[in-house]
Amino acid sequence: MALTLSIFLLVLQCAFCARYDPNWASLDSRPLPAWYDEGKVGIFLHWGVFSVPAFGSEWFWWYWQGEKQSAVTQYMQANYRPDFTYADFAPLFHAEFYNPAQWADIFNASGANYLVLVSKHHEGFTNWPSTYSWNWNAGDVGPKRDLVGELADAVRQRTNIKFGVYHSMFEWFNPLFLQDQANGFTTQNYVRAKTMPELYELVNKYKPEIVWSDGEWMAADTYWNSTEFIAWLYNESPVKDTVVVNDRWGNNTRCAHGGFWDCSDHYTPGTLVPHKWENCMTIDKYSWGYRANAQLSDIHTIEELITQLVTTVSFGGNMLFNVGPTAYGEIAPVYEERLRQIGSWLNVNGEAIYKTHVWTYQNDSVADNVWYTARTNGSTTVYAILLSWPEVGNLTLGHPVASRSTVVSLVGYPGQFKFFSPSSGGITINIPPIPAGQIPCDWAWVFRLEGLQNQNTKLDSFAFSKKLKALQMRKEFPKFQ
Ligand SMILES: *[C@@H]1O[C@H](CO)[C@@H](O)[C@H](O)[C@H]1NC(C)=O
Ligand SMILES: *[C@@H]1O[C@H](CO)[C@@H](O)[C@H](O)[C@H]1NC(C)=O
Ligand SMILES: *[C@@H]1O[C@H](CO)[C@@H](O)[C@H](O)[C@H]1NC(C)=O
Ligand SMILES: *[C@@H]1O[C@H](CO)[C@@H](O)[C@H](O)[C@H]1NC(C)=O
Ligand SMILES: *[C@@H]1O[C@H](CO)[C@@H](O)[C@H](O)[C@H]1NC(C)=O
Ligand SMILES: *[C@@H]1O[C@H](CO)[C@@H](O)[C@H](O)[C@H]1NC(C)=O
Repeated sequence: MALTLSIFLLVLQCAFCARYDPNWASLDSRPLPAWYDEGKVGIFLHWGVFSVPAFGSEWFWWYWQGEKQSAVTQYMQANYRPDFTYADFAPLFHAEFYNPAQWADIFNASGANYLVLVSKHHEGFTNWPSTYSWNWNAGDVGPKRDLVGELADAVRQRTNIKFGVYHSMFEWFNPLFLQDQANGFTTQNYVRAKTMPELYELVNKYKPEIVWSDGEWMAADTYWNSTEFIAWLYNESPVKDTVVVNDRWGNNTRCAHGGFWDCSDHYTPGTLVPHKWENCMTIDKYSWGYRANAQLSDIHTIEELITQLVTTVSFGGNMLFNVGPTAYGEIAPVYEERLRQIGSWLNVNGEAIYKTHVWTYQNDSVADNVWYTARTNGSTTVYAILLSWPEVGNLTLGHPVASRSTVVSLVGYPGQFKFFSPSSGGITINIPPIPAGQIPCDWAWVFRLEGLQNQNTKLDSFAFSKKLKALQMRKEFPKFQ
């Protein structure tokens, strides 16, 4: 009797715990777990069989045998035997120097708060020993290791970084997918055999706190059964309370549905966006996957990366920096250096990035290359981030209005700075000569502005929501492929 009652109560309870329905109106109503917005900075890792040819980009297979681009066909003719197939690259994916603990320490030193590892790209090769990718997975071929699980474990053991996975819904040459496509997506054999089982397997096995979906654009969300999966993810999965997803769940969902919005790759809206968004960008200007033929000039400088980070966060976005590990299993030194440089900057200036929100203004009206963020903890501190070094003298910023209690300081440098309120408005900061040895960091300097007259968060959020509404009405988003 008591048992029957408790089973009954359990069933009843679970009827209530299924809080989200498999439709966008319901799924979109879920608040984004706060850790994602607060964390601001993530690292993206494009790794797979494409890392073996390491030529062109991670789209190598498609460029070779889909589009038959001459650069790629010539590269293959010149360097491989005539009957070499793409599958023949997989046994050459050795990952012999893959040391997940070392990777975790590099990522930790970068100041990133989350990680998005490609678990499977459009080539279909799973970097984990998937039950649903017969003989085309890292357990059976190539590394003969669980690349995903080992990194998840190392990152969790050694850091506070959230572990996430990227997963491509479609696969260029999967016969089941091609058949569904030929059927005008009226059949779902590929989704039933591949996409869905893989996604459930990934989540149940590795408990990723980000499911970063891609490869969705060929078909609608209804073909992929995206809302069914996300409802399970939010209601029942082992990560239901902490997981976040992006917006790539069907040809009708980018910049519209899901969790945070990626919209297009390298998304830099240059304005506020009426939703949490992310700028995923590559440190190699031309590829997500590792390219053996990359030149130093192809790699973004640290100044460029910090500019992206600062402007992105000023507009309310998160920054996802991409690195392509090598088939040897290494983060190549130039990428390691960039990640460590980002970390050294964040180590000094993190208070102007992490846990910040947008201010009333995103960049200055008078001074060039000055960007704002704000952080509220009791009162609101405004940060003016200067992308160029302030010369000795008077620096006038157009937007901040000082009050009697305003305090101006340089993050990472002792003491306060003198300032006055010019009759033209704004604030003028006296920049004293700063000894080279005491410059707090090498790129982008941050003024901490406390007690501004116009720091008011209530006003800020009001202005922000008004700006957002205006944007929503204009539906101003770029087109994508
Ligand atoms: C991770 O980074 C934090 C902050 O920079 C540092 O305090 C900590 O020692 C690092 N941990 C490891 C394992 O490197
Ligand atoms: C998609 O969801 C519908 C409704 O729940 C279900 O009938 C169908 O079998 C699902 N298809 C796949 C491939 O999971
Ligand atoms: C989206 O994909 C569906 C097939 O699932 C197709 O019928 C529709 O035309 C596509 N829409 C766009 C805008 O490409
Ligand atoms: C502020 O940014 C906008 C667009 O991002 C730009 O058009 C404007 O020139 C910038 N202002 C200054 C003073 O740099
Ligand atoms: C807010 O400030 C207090 C006191 O300085 C500090 O202990 C606390 O960690 C801060 N909270 C956040 C979320 O930064
Ligand atoms: C800064 O402005 C003040 C007030 O106008 C002026 O007295 C001072 O000479 C200026 N300093 C420099 C270095 O221009």
